[in-house]
Amino acid sequence: MEFDFSDIEGWSREVALRDGAVLLLRAERPEDLEPLWEMYSTLSEDSLSTLTDRYTHDLIERWFRNLDFERILPILAFPTDEPTRVVAHTTLHFSTDEATRHKAMYGVAVHDDYQDRGLGTLLTRLNIEIVGLKGLSKVYLHVLTSNVRGIHVYEKCGFEKEGLLRREHWHYLLQDYVDEYRMSILL
Ligand SMILES: CC(C)(COP(=O)(O)OP(=O)(O)OC[C@H]1O[C@@H](n2cnc3c(N)ncnc32)[C@H](O)[C@@H]1OP(=O)(O)O)[C@@H](O)C(=O)NCCC(=O)NCCS
Repeated sequence: MEFDFSDIEGWSREVALRDGAVLLLRAERPEDLEPLWEMYSTLSEDSLSTLTDRYTHDLIERWFRNLDFERILPILAFPTDEPTRVVAHTTLHFSTDEATRHKAMYGVAVHDDYQDRGLGTLLTRLNIEIVGLKGLSKVYLHVLTSNVRGIHVYEKCGFEKEGLLRREHWHYLLQDYVDEYRMSILL
Protein backbone atom coordinates (compact mmCIF):
# COMPACT_ATOMS: atom_id res chain seq x y z
CA MET A 1 0.00 0.00 0.00
CA GLU A 2 1.35 3.46 -0.92
CA PHE A 3 2.26 5.43 2.19
CA ASP A 4 -0.53 7.90 2.92
CA PHE A 5 0.00 10.88 5.25
CA SER A 6 -3.73 11.47 5.53
CA ASP A 7 -4.23 7.98 7.03
CA ILE A 8 -1.01 6.93 8.75
CA GLU A 9 -2.88 4.77 11.30
CA GLY A 10 -4.58 2.88 8.47
CA TRP A 11 -1.42 2.34 6.43
CA SER A 12 0.37 -1.01 6.31
CA ARG A 13 2.56 -2.83 3.84
CA GLU A 14 3.42 -6.51 3.55
CA VAL A 15 6.99 -7.15 2.44
CA ALA A 16 8.91 -10.34 1.63
CA LEU A 17 12.60 -10.74 2.45
CA ARG A 18 14.89 -12.55 0.01
CA ASP A 19 14.73 -15.71 2.18
CA GLY A 20 10.94 -15.75 1.87
CA ALA A 21 10.06 -14.38 5.33
CA VAL A 22 7.03 -12.09 5.16
CA LEU A 23 6.59 -9.07 7.44
CA LEU A 24 3.89 -6.53 8.04
CA LEU A 25 5.05 -2.92 8.32
CA ARG A 26 2.86 -0.34 10.01
CA ALA A 27 3.02 2.75 12.20
CA GLU A 28 3.39 2.27 15.94
CA ARG A 29 0.27 1.97 18.11
CA PRO A 30 -0.09 2.36 21.92
CA GLU A 31 -0.41 -1.41 22.36
CA ASP A 32 3.06 -1.95 20.82
CA LEU A 33 4.91 -0.77 23.94
CA GLU A 34 5.61 -4.23 25.43
CA PRO A 35 6.48 -5.90 22.08
CA LEU A 36 8.89 -3.04 21.35
CA TRP A 37 10.45 -3.37 24.80
CA GLU A 38 10.76 -7.12 24.16
CA MET A 39 12.71 -6.34 20.98
CA TYR A 40 15.11 -3.87 22.61
CA SER A 41 15.57 -5.94 25.76
CA THR A 42 16.63 -9.00 23.73
CA LEU A 43 19.15 -7.27 21.43
CA SER A 44 22.63 -8.77 21.60
CA GLU A 45 25.49 -6.86 23.19
CA ASP A 46 26.96 -6.44 19.68
CA SER A 47 23.81 -4.69 18.51
CA LEU A 48 23.55 -2.55 21.63
CA SER A 49 27.18 -1.50 21.12
CA THR A 50 26.22 0.07 17.78
CA LEU A 51 23.40 2.12 19.34
CA THR A 52 24.00 5.09 21.61
CA ASP A 53 20.81 5.06 23.72
CA ARG A 54 20.59 2.96 26.85
CA TYR A 55 17.27 1.20 26.28
CA THR A 56 15.20 0.88 29.43
CA HIS A 57 11.49 0.20 29.87
CA ASP A 58 11.19 3.74 31.13
CA LEU A 59 12.71 5.23 27.98
CA ILE A 60 10.41 3.21 25.73
CA GLU A 61 7.39 4.16 27.84
CA ARG A 62 8.34 7.81 27.31
CA TRP A 63 8.38 7.27 23.53
CA PHE A 64 4.75 6.13 23.77
CA ARG A 65 3.52 8.98 25.95
CA ASN A 66 2.81 11.45 23.19
CA LEU A 67 2.54 9.65 19.88
CA ASP A 68 2.43 12.46 17.36
CA PHE A 69 3.18 11.46 13.78
CA GLU A 70 3.70 15.09 12.79
CA ARG A 71 6.73 15.12 15.11
CA ILE A 72 7.99 11.52 15.13
CA LEU A 73 6.92 8.75 12.78
CA PRO A 74 7.82 5.30 14.16
CA ILE A 75 7.34 2.26 11.92
CA LEU A 76 7.46 -1.30 13.21
CA ALA A 77 7.96 -4.64 11.46
CA PHE A 78 6.01 -7.75 12.52
CA PRO A 79 6.73 -11.22 11.04
CA THR A 80 3.42 -12.60 9.71
CA ASP A 81 4.15 -15.93 11.40
CA GLU A 82 4.69 -14.18 14.78
CA PRO A 83 2.27 -11.27 14.45
CA THR A 84 2.73 -9.89 17.96
CA ARG A 85 6.53 -9.80 17.75
CA VAL A 86 8.36 -6.59 16.76
CA VAL A 87 11.61 -7.29 14.89
CA ALA A 88 12.51 -3.84 13.59
CA HIS A 89 11.84 -0.22 14.52
CA THR A 90 12.49 2.89 12.48
CA THR A 91 11.88 6.54 13.31
CA LEU A 92 11.71 9.76 11.37
CA HIS A 93 11.95 12.94 13.41
CA PHE A 94 10.40 16.00 11.79
CA SER A 95 10.90 19.60 12.75
CA THR A 96 8.43 22.46 12.63
CA ASP A 97 11.08 25.21 12.79
CA GLU A 98 11.25 27.30 9.67
CA ALA A 99 15.01 26.78 9.43
CA THR A 100 14.97 22.96 9.73
CA ARG A 101 11.57 21.77 8.56
CA HIS A 102 12.95 20.70 5.16
CA LYS A 103 14.70 17.69 6.68
CA ALA A 104 14.05 14.58 8.75
CA MET A 105 16.32 12.58 11.04
CA TYR A 106 16.28 8.81 10.53
CA GLY A 107 16.96 5.98 12.98
CA VAL A 108 16.72 2.19 12.60
CA ALA A 109 17.23 -0.95 14.65
CA VAL A 110 16.70 -4.49 13.40
CA HIS A 111 16.61 -7.39 15.88
CA ASP A 112 19.57 -9.78 15.64
CA ASP A 113 17.31 -12.62 14.41
CA TYR A 114 16.42 -10.52 11.35
CA GLN A 115 19.76 -8.81 10.60
CA ASP A 116 21.56 -9.44 7.30
CA ARG A 117 18.34 -10.56 5.61
CA GLY A 118 17.69 -7.34 3.68
CA LEU A 119 15.26 -5.76 6.13
CA GLY A 120 17.41 -2.75 7.12
CA THR A 121 17.92 -1.85 3.46
CA LEU A 122 14.22 -2.23 2.71
CA LEU A 123 13.19 -0.09 5.69
CA THR A 124 15.75 2.60 4.90
CA ARG A 125 14.45 2.85 1.33
CA LEU A 126 10.86 3.00 2.60
CA ASN A 127 11.71 5.86 4.99
CA ILE A 128 13.47 7.80 2.23
CA GLU A 129 10.32 7.32 0.13
CA ILE A 130 8.17 8.63 3.00
CA VAL A 131 10.32 11.73 3.46
CA GLY A 132 10.03 12.38 -0.28
CA LEU A 133 6.24 11.97 -0.14
CA LYS A 134 6.14 14.53 2.68
CA GLY A 135 7.85 16.95 0.31
CA LEU A 136 11.07 17.28 2.34
CA SER A 137 14.46 17.53 0.71
CA LYS A 138 16.94 15.96 3.14
CA VAL A 139 17.24 12.89 5.39
CA TYR A 140 20.12 12.67 7.86
CA LEU A 141 21.33 10.27 10.53
CA HIS A 142 24.13 9.64 12.99
CA VAL A 143 26.05 6.36 12.97
CA LEU A 144 29.06 5.20 14.99
CA THR A 145 32.19 5.19 12.82
CA SER A 146 32.70 1.55 13.91
CA ASN A 147 29.30 0.45 12.53
CA VAL A 148 30.53 -0.79 9.15
CA ARG A 149 27.36 -2.72 8.41
CA GLY A 150 25.15 0.30 9.10
CA ILE A 151 27.37 2.57 6.98
CA HIS A 152 27.31 0.00 4.17
CA VAL A 153 23.50 -0.12 4.22
CA TYR A 154 23.15 3.67 4.31
CA GLU A 155 25.63 4.18 1.44
CA LYS A 156 23.83 1.50 -0.57
CA CYS A 157 20.63 3.51 -0.10
CA GLY A 158 22.28 6.75 -1.26
CA PHE A 159 23.43 8.38 1.99
CA GLU A 160 26.78 10.16 1.97
CA LYS A 161 29.03 11.03 4.89
CA GLU A 162 28.82 14.75 5.52
CA GLY A 163 30.89 15.03 8.68
CA LEU A 164 32.84 13.33 11.41
CA LEU A 165 31.70 14.04 14.96
CA ARG A 166 34.61 13.32 17.22
CA ARG A 167 34.02 11.96 20.73
CA GLU A 168 30.31 12.62 20.19
CA HIS A 169 28.90 10.28 22.86
CA TRP A 170 29.90 8.47 25.98
CA HIS A 171 28.94 4.83 25.37
CA TYR A 172 27.67 3.13 28.53
CA LEU A 173 28.51 -0.39 27.25
CA LEU A 174 31.83 0.32 25.61
CA GLN A 175 32.81 2.53 28.57
CA ASP A 176 34.46 4.90 26.16
CA TYR A 177 33.75 7.92 23.99
CA VAL A 178 32.68 7.11 20.45
CA ASP A 179 33.02 8.97 17.16
CA GLU A 180 30.09 9.25 14.78
CA TYR A 181 29.53 10.11 11.16
CA ARG A 182 26.70 12.31 10.21
CA MET A 183 25.32 11.04 6.92
CA SER A 184 22.64 12.45 4.69
CA ILE A 185 20.83 12.11 1.42
CA LEU A 186 19.40 15.02 -0.52
CA LEU A 187 16.10 14.34 -2.28
C1 LIG B 1 22.51 -1.76 10.78
C2 LIG B 1 21.19 -2.46 10.50
C3 LIG B 1 20.04 -1.46 10.62
C4 LIG B 1 21.20 -3.02 9.08
O1 LIG B 1 20.02 -3.74 8.87
P1 LIG B 1 20.09 -5.23 8.28
O2 LIG B 1 18.71 -5.70 8.11
O3 LIG B 1 20.99 -6.05 9.12
O4 LIG B 1 20.78 -4.91 6.87
P2 LIG B 1 20.60 -5.62 5.46
O5 LIG B 1 20.42 -7.08 5.66
O6 LIG B 1 19.60 -4.89 4.66
O7 LIG B 1 22.01 -5.31 4.81
C5 LIG B 1 23.19 -5.66 5.49
C6 LIG B 1 24.33 -5.37 4.55
O8 LIG B 1 25.51 -5.21 5.32
C7 LIG B 1 26.48 -6.13 4.85
N1 LIG B 1 27.28 -6.46 6.01
C8 LIG B 1 27.00 -7.29 7.03
N2 LIG B 1 28.00 -7.31 7.92
C9 LIG B 1 28.93 -6.45 7.45
C10 LIG B 1 30.19 -6.03 7.92
N3 LIG B 1 30.70 -6.49 9.05
N4 LIG B 1 30.87 -5.11 7.17
C11 LIG B 1 30.37 -4.62 6.03
N5 LIG B 1 29.16 -5.00 5.53
C12 LIG B 1 28.46 -5.89 6.24
C13 LIG B 1 25.68 -7.27 4.28
O9 LIG B 1 26.46 -8.02 3.36
C14 LIG B 1 24.58 -6.51 3.58
O10 LIG B 1 25.03 -5.89 2.41
P3 LIG B 1 24.56 -6.36 0.94
O11 LIG B 1 23.07 -6.38 0.97
O12 LIG B 1 25.12 -5.31 0.05
O13 LIG B 1 25.16 -7.71 0.78
C15 LIG B 1 20.96 -3.65 11.48
O14 LIG B 1 21.98 -4.62 11.28
C16 LIG B 1 20.90 -3.23 12.93
O15 LIG B 1 19.88 -2.76 13.39
N6 LIG B 1 22.01 -3.42 13.67
C17 LIG B 1 22.05 -3.13 15.09
C18 LIG B 1 21.65 -1.70 15.43
C19 LIG B 1 22.23 -0.68 14.49
O16 LIG B 1 23.39 -0.74 14.11
N7 LIG B 1 21.39 0.29 14.10
C20 LIG B 1 21.82 1.40 13.28
C21 LIG B 1 22.39 2.48 14.16
S1 LIG B 1 22.87 3.89 13.22
